[in-house]
Amino acid sequence: MPQLLPTSRAARLAGISRGELQRRIRTGDLSTFEGSVDINELIKLYPEINLDGSGMLEKVRDIKANARPKKRYEEAIPSAEVLVSRLKAVGQDLFHARTDIHRLEKLVSEIKGRMQEICAKRECDPKQELSALTQWIDKAFQTFSDSSKSAANVRAKDAFMRIMAAHIKLLPSGHEFFLEGQDTLLAASVRSGLYVNYGCTKGNCGSCKARLVEGEVHQVRDHDYILSEHEKSMGYLLMCSNTAVTDVVLEAAEAESAADIPQQRIRAAIRKVESLEEDLRLLHITTPRTHTLRFMAGQSIRLTLDQGETTLQPVASCPCDSLNLQILLRRNDADPFINAVFTGLELPETVTLVGPEGDFVLRNDVSNPLLFIAVDDGFAPIRSLIEHAISMDNAESVQLIRITRETKTPFLDGLCRSWSDALDNFSYRHLAGDWQLEQLLESVRAVQENPSALHLYIAGLADPQPLLESLIGLGIERENIRWQEIG
Ligand code: FES
Repeated sequence: MPQLLPTSRAARLAGISRGELQRRIRTGDLSTFEGSVDINELIKLYPEINLDGSGMLEKVRDIKANARPKKRYEEAIPSAEVLVSRLKAVGQDLFHARTDIHRLEKLVSEIKGRMQEICAKRECDPKQELSALTQWIDKAFQTFSDSSKSAANVRAKDAFMRIMAAHIKLLPSGHEFFLEGQDTLLAASVRSGLYVNYGCTKGNCGSCKARLVEGEVHQVRDHDYILSEHEKSMGYLLMCSNTAVTDVVLEAAEAESAADIPQQRIRAAIRKVESLEEDLRLLHITTPRTHTLRFMAGQSIRLTLDQGETTLQPVASCPCDSLNLQILLRRNDADPFINAVFTGLELPETVTLVGPEGDFVLRNDVSNPLLFIAVDDGFAPIRSLIEHAISMDNAESVQLIRITRETKTPFLDGLCRSWSDALDNFSYRHLAGDWQLEQLLESVRAVQENPSALHLYIAGLADPQPLLESLIGLGIERENIRWQEIG
């Protein structure tokens, strides 16, 4: 009987990205059984399964850790109550596995005994026949032990991961993520880049209501929102008030497009103004913990100071950290908000956020190779899209081409290089100065042999039409190109 693992867990164990595992499934190298893969098939495909845990996953985790708020040490491990339940479940698995092995050993020894009896009755040469038979059984048993040793190693690592993190699957989308430490179901889904419905994050509004289909959860805080007795009996819960004890399957509503994200008005604080270049600032904004901004990567928000200065800007950070936002501002004397920032704010400065706006967002659930072209400050929304793509871990590959008018090293170049260094499926190229269209097209050809598979996102060009026509000429489908003009 096959020992099955959900694809997310299988990718974790093999130390590869989920996008890479899905590519092997698509090309027929690995088969799936109702969305899960067989451990033995996984070992055949990845015989060097990395049991020390230093694979792609850890690299992705590091990058995500930079894009997300840091957890305090005591929040990074599950609560004692959850740990006890998970250890109990792993203990039961171990007990069943031991029982099976014991039965198997008994069966082998019974077979040996029976054959001995049969041989004795037939008055054959017991010594010779029995010796041949036992040799055969020992060899078969050895082969079985060798193959099950690799599977046991994988299962051991999987058991450890089960103690530290619960696997969550959402229906009907099939999205999967891991809940680590003391996160709630909602916090873990947001960290993973999913757009689950939510509002207050503190148990008041009921927007994060979901139905438990399988598994065990633990309520971590009281909530004012009242679930009816009927809802409770149907398994409904609030994702912002519960954590997972075991692996869990939930029926939950998710935003599918920018139109599904409600307009919000949030009073937040500008905590830091970071100078990236003489004419470029990065605002670090913190929302209240109980009223974070729900937005999709690539969207913009309107920021207004208490004195009335206002501006509309793309968010330059990942929606997987909806508490801490970053906004890139280029000096612009015609924009009173930007002027106020360059003149000097008294920090922390209160700012009102209204939004989000725009539909320059990643296409839902695609695993195609992604190509991002960021021209000058168009890197702001592109950064948000890339961090979201890394969080989702679905894309077969991610390529970034940055184009700058000036020949000097572009701002946040180190960040782009760290993505490229850390991720096997990420590449980064910078075209500077008097770049030519042909040079860009050559770069696109170089990153993808088959441009028709590419999904392309372009930001920062005032008039992208000539570029779009040339890209379509390369074989990229028009419907697979999204762009955002920046005037
Ligand atoms: S987000 Fe409001 S109740 Fe959970």
